[in-house]
Amino acid sequence: MIITIDGPAGTGKSTVAQTVAQELGFDFLDTGAMYRAIGLAALRRHTNLEDAREISYAAKLAKITFDFSTQPPGISLNGEPVGHLLRAGDTTQAASFVAVVPAVREILVRQQQEIGVSRPNLVTEGRDQGTVVFPHAELKFYLDATPVERARRRANQLRSRGEVVDIAHLQTQIMDRDTRDAKRAVGPLAIPKDSQVIDTSSLSLREVVDQIITRAQERRGQR
Ligand code: DC
Repeated sequence: MIITIDGPAGTGKSTVAQTVAQELGFDFLDTGAMYRAIGLAALRRHTNLEDAREISYAAKLAKITFDFSTQPPGISLNGEPVGHLLRAGDTTQAASFVAVVPAVREILVRQQQEIGVSRPNLVTEGRDQGTVVFPHAELKFYLDATPVERARRRANQLRSRGEVVDIAHLQTQIMDRDTRDAKRAVGPLAIPKDSQVIDTSSLSLREVVDQIITRAQERRGQR
């Protein structure tokens, strides 16, 4: 069974997907980490992030692999474990540039589909999992939350790292990113038509996880 979880940043997708996978005994695929790893590869090659051809070249040379024996799975770039490097500010920024390049999306979409074949019980999260990568997935979810709540969650994350936060600025950044993600030509952020939308604004992690697990168990029972 493939379960897709899509939605914008700040909706708790990653933690939800990882927890659901763990509790169902499924594999977890963090597709954002793949775009981040390509972003890191591009930074290391001093690629011009405004140049789609240079980015495509960097992506072709970047081999991404997952070790599914750990929770969460470990990600490597050309054999080097890079999971701990992928959340840095410059990598996050580079990821958002590489994610709009069609050739990068083509490479990563194909690789994600291959993972779906080799790891058939999968919880996968991203922006295009239920629409483009796994259009025939058995269960699809779209997590959403108000921009105010997403900014609040992001602010808490940053404060816990000792950073000073301007909430109004964070909210503007979040809304700008939503517009960019929804407008890009390839794999735009969209609600899969056959998905269940969960507004997580006033729900706890446990409540969101429980809704998804309940649906997965119902679906298993119907088989
Ligand atoms: O979910 P995240 O923040 O780790 O994603 C990192 C970047 O990759 C972000 O700019 C959105 C993009 N992304 C994407 O375009 N498609 C996906 N399936 C996953 C992430």
